[in-house]
Amino acid sequence: MSDLVDRLLASMTLEEKLGQLNMIDAGTPPYDEAEMERQIAAGRIGSLLNIRDPERLNRWQAMALGSRLKIPLIFGLDVLHGHYTIYPLPIAEACAFDPELWERTAKISVEETGRDGITMTFAPMLDVCRDPRWGRIAECPGEDAYVASRFAEAKIRGYQGTDLSRRESIAATAKHLGAYGAVEAGRDYGSVNVSERQLAETYLPPFEAAVKAGVSSIMPAFNDVAGIPMTAHGDLLNDLVRETWGFEGVMVSDYTAVAELIAHGIADDLTHAASIALMAGVDIDMQDQAYVQGLPKALERGLVTMADIDRAVRRVLTLKAKLGLFDEPYRRVSAPPLSETQVKEFTALARDSARRSVVLLKNDNNTLPITSKNKKIALIGPLADAPLEMFGCWFAAAPLESVTILHGLKTALPNADIRHVKGVEIEGGDTNGIAEAVALAKASDTIVLSLGETKDMTGEAHSRGRIELPGHQRALAEAIFALGKPVIVVLSHGRPVAAPWLFERAEAVVSSWFLGSEAGHGIADVMTGKWNPSAKLCVTWPYDGGQIPIFHSQRSTGRPANPEVYFSTRHVDLPIEPQFPFGHGLSYTRYALSNLKVPSEFTEGDTVTVAVDVSNEGSVAGEETLFLFLRDPVASIARPVLELKGFAKATLKSGERKTVCFTLKPADFEFLDKNLQPRFESGAFEVSVGQSADRTKLLTAKVQGNAR
Ligand code: NOJ
Repeated sequence: MSDLVDRLLASMTLEEKLGQLNMIDAGTPPYDEAEMERQIAAGRIGSLLNIRDPERLNRWQAMALGSRLKIPLIFGLDVLHGHYTIYPLPIAEACAFDPELWERTAKISVEETGRDGITMTFAPMLDVCRDPRWGRIAECPGEDAYVASRFAEAKIRGYQGTDLSRRESIAATAKHLGAYGAVEAGRDYGSVNVSERQLAETYLPPFEAAVKAGVSSIMPAFNDVAGIPMTAHGDLLNDLVRETWGFEGVMVSDYTAVAELIAHGIADDLTHAASIALMAGVDIDMQDQAYVQGLPKALERGLVTMADIDRAVRRVLTLKAKLGLFDEPYRRVSAPPLSETQVKEFTALARDSARRSVVLLKNDNNTLPITSKNKKIALIGPLADAPLEMFGCWFAAAPLESVTILHGLKTALPNADIRHVKGVEIEGGDTNGIAEAVALAKASDTIVLSLGETKDMTGEAHSRGRIELPGHQRALAEAIFALGKPVIVVLSHGRPVAAPWLFERAEAVVSSWFLGSEAGHGIADVMTGKWNPSAKLCVTWPYDGGQIPIFHSQRSTGRPANPEVYFSTRHVDLPIEPQFPFGHGLSYTRYALSNLKVPSEFTEGDTVTVAVDVSNEGSVAGEETLFLFLRDPVASIARPVLELKGFAKATLKSGERKTVCFTLKPADFEFLDKNLQPRFESGAFEVSVGQSADRTKLLTAKVQGNAR
């Protein structure tokens, strides 16, 4: 492999080298296709993105193979949660706390994407996010670095498999490094001002996990961190990621991010911008032609050397070789079409992943599940029959139909009389339809309100300043609540939605996020009890946007939160508690934890086993996720009140009891000292296991750790 790369490099002109670093969008009009084709044929483009048409893709691959050095193209695409079959949004899927599921949906996405000739995906997205105003929270695995790290490993296994050159593998991209989830005020593309400690403890670990898992590519984020745009952040990209972590893959810029160094205010022209990004470690320049246009002059001005360019080109060629593109450039596209069995399998997975991602937030008086006994069901609201909305953001190639909530419920309850009215639009419109909705609710036995956001209220460039229900939906809900009948609410949304009035007045609330192709069946499975809900929130759900940022691993402070104490950390007009804690999620059964066992002491470097019994005390079978938290109550650097160190699932029949074991590794007892170096300090640690991060309900035991 390296021989081939050496040979190619030795015979390349500067233009051909820069071509390999040049990635162009061939799917977003307007663009000059004829000019692009000339450049491909001349070896001036090394990769394309956003193509969903295998015929054109093959044509362009043939042009690249007809160029002087016959170097194949890479085709990149964002495959965040499926391709033709769409799985739940990453934030939803993360709520399943199921690495096997995370891996499978990625693996099966590749079956579809690969056949379209895609060889690289810009996923997984690993940004930790504690600010639901940020639209891209929908694309990420939630608020916790430990969860995001496990998510990274599973997704990379799924996308890349064990051998990148196989037909069923594509290169994964860990994005966006780093701290993009912490943009100021949740405004997309905003600045980030986090401490080096927060970077190291919270935002970078998922990327380190991705590197350890063998990720092929990393995308620096659009944002700056404390004044240094990530596209220019050599200390992080080169020194930390490449030198310390040992990353050997490709760094691909975000879309036009190299040229944006000018707008950031750290480069005065494209030449300057291109040289800064290249020297910071960015190999592929996405879309802005900054390298093609800027690097020749940068060479003349002595801002970069040919060796710097060669280093980047070598990485790109090595990735192409690893993908097997030099040997069989059309292999993925020439795979036999999907069989009927495969399509069925993918659809079944879409449904299973959908129901596994539904979080039951509230269920007073066992209002759910509903059964066919309920003859007249009013399904009211703007998201009940909204096939396009169910996909959420990023569904590049999907057909325009998904299973709606209306269709799912009708199929699941064939004997029920299910009537639907919209009442109001998701956003905008008027309140004229509310009277009809109220009339329908009055005449029905069961009322289901289907409310939420549009799919476009989250995703890139879709941050919201207010995270409440948009439009006239509150007016609709209030009118229905005023009837005094029990109301079930199904929320469709890309972020936690602040609606305390709704959580108080609804009898049951289901958070269904955006669940993809099989959304309606997945939701109906939960609502009818065919699936006992098992998902848990991967983000803390605020009561009000004013609590942001709110997350489970906050620090104690010198005046810890305590409603009884006047001078304690709080807002005078808001509760200190969230609406729902991280890990919250109900089921149709009851689980009880007992018998937490930890050793009384251990020595630095030991592995510690934690065991707890969990029993199913209800009448139906279910799957429960348990969380393992650690607290180091006295350390030279104040530690968070809870640090997640593990999660595990138990599948339990009614009446069944199991022992669940967790392993705490030596590094779990360390923290970063004042120089951000891992350090172990002797003392007592609190080990807690619980069904959520609700500290009042955790089982806790102490273990004494002694330095070696
Ligand atoms: C911009 C987004 O930030 C990034 O996540 C995505 O991969 C690229 N566009 C390419 O679509």
